[in-house]
Amino acid sequence: MKHLNIGLLGFGFMGKTHLWAVKNLPFFYDLPFTAEVAAVCASERHPEKSLEIAKTYGIPRAADETTLLNDPTIDIIDICTPNPYHFETAKAALLAGKHVLCEKPLTVTAAEGYELAELAKATGLICGTVFNNRHLAPVMRAKQLIDEGKLGRILSFDFSYRHNSCIDPDRRVGWKQTAEAGGGTLFDLGPHVIDLCHFLCGKVASVAAKSHIAFPTHLRADGSVWQTDADEAFYIICELRNGAVGNITVSKLTQGANDELAFTINGTLGSLSFSLMDPNYLNFYDATAAGSPVGGVRGYTRIECVGRYPAPATGFPTPKAPSGWLRGHIGSMAAYLTAVYEGRPAEPSFEDGAYVQTVMEAAKKSAEARREVSLC
Ligand SMILES: NC(=O)c1ccc[n+]([C@@H]2O[C@H](COP(=O)([O-])OP(=O)(O)OC[C@H]3O[C@@H](n4cnc5c(N)ncnc54)[C@H](O)[C@@H]3O)[C@@H](O)[C@H]2O)c1
Repeated sequence: MKHLNIGLLGFGFMGKTHLWAVKNLPFFYDLPFTAEVAAVCASERHPEKSLEIAKTYGIPRAADETTLLNDPTIDIIDICTPNPYHFETAKAALLAGKHVLCEKPLTVTAAEGYELAELAKATGLICGTVFNNRHLAPVMRAKQLIDEGKLGRILSFDFSYRHNSCIDPDRRVGWKQTAEAGGGTLFDLGPHVIDLCHFLCGKVASVAAKSHIAFPTHLRADGSVWQTDADEAFYIICELRNGAVGNITVSKLTQGANDELAFTINGTLGSLSFSLMDPNYLNFYDATAAGSPVGGVRGYTRIECVGRYPAPATGFPTPKAPSGWLRGHIGSMAAYLTAVYEGRPAEPSFEDGAYVQTVMEAAKKSAEARREVSLC
């Protein structure tokens, strides 16, 4: 059986999540290959940290980034470092002949994203951007229903991703809320919902956006005062090339929110709605169902997607078991590694990642210039 060796870069929240996904793949998928995280680089500056993580998590080797990129036994480089490092690392990995899986946002600028997408195409290496929410069962079902024409022509949509983290006065600012990361909440939560809008509804024609900073200062980890230099929320009105119009909202200024990714999509024949806080169900309104007598059978159906993933999913722990955020990550990992194994393009690709950068860049330009920006 073919074996894929992965070199993991970065071992914070996402490094841990990707390792968990790779280790658990055989429980969730019957795949014609095996895969393992064969080496980890958790920190360029502190090699002892990589050694400690390798030992704690049962990873065979710890290495620095250059050694890992040039290790002939490594097939795939998995990038889980902060955003500003993605471009250089992905480029170096491609030039070293490795397949690359990269966390969102793919890069900090759209130009960097398209440079990587071009390089991926030129080298023929399999490259993927992690948009894990595409792999949630209700999102997969939404895509099927839209592709089958069950919504008719899409008229409008509302995608949002809300956290409450910028409101908490005691919470210390991390790298994700700095301009260095590319652009605060837009760059942190935006890629997920911009990608879902692209995936489910279509390409963007124009955006009119507004950014919001509600707290001009926050506290750094050492307790000193930090001047907020990146958006805490971003509101984007989007017109799609297919004529649909809607909102994309990302906010860390929503009191009471935990991890609230949600969408509604409204078409001529039906509507869909989903919330990540209710991840077992996709809500579908079929306007073609009989509406009489006395309402007939028309009304929202709560489709029980739960753990009903198609083959090669094993159905573990059982198809009726409730789903959750980690399930999307293991689906994402299975889809990417299968593409490498089969030698075909990965989806979502680096091109998908670069496209999201284009929309974010246009949204930033729109907010700064206070005018609509065309993407056509
Ligand atoms: N898809 C998702 O659901 C999701 C969720 C959160 C974060 N992310 C993305 O994942 C990436 C990482 O985010 P995170 O939350 O894990 O951040 P984190 O701060 O928790 O972890 C980043 C890790 O990278 C390490 N690091 C920094 N520079 C490095 C280098 N040059 N070489 C090796 N290691 C290095 C740090 O020591 C740290 O351990 C970001 O791009 C972020 O946008 C994706």
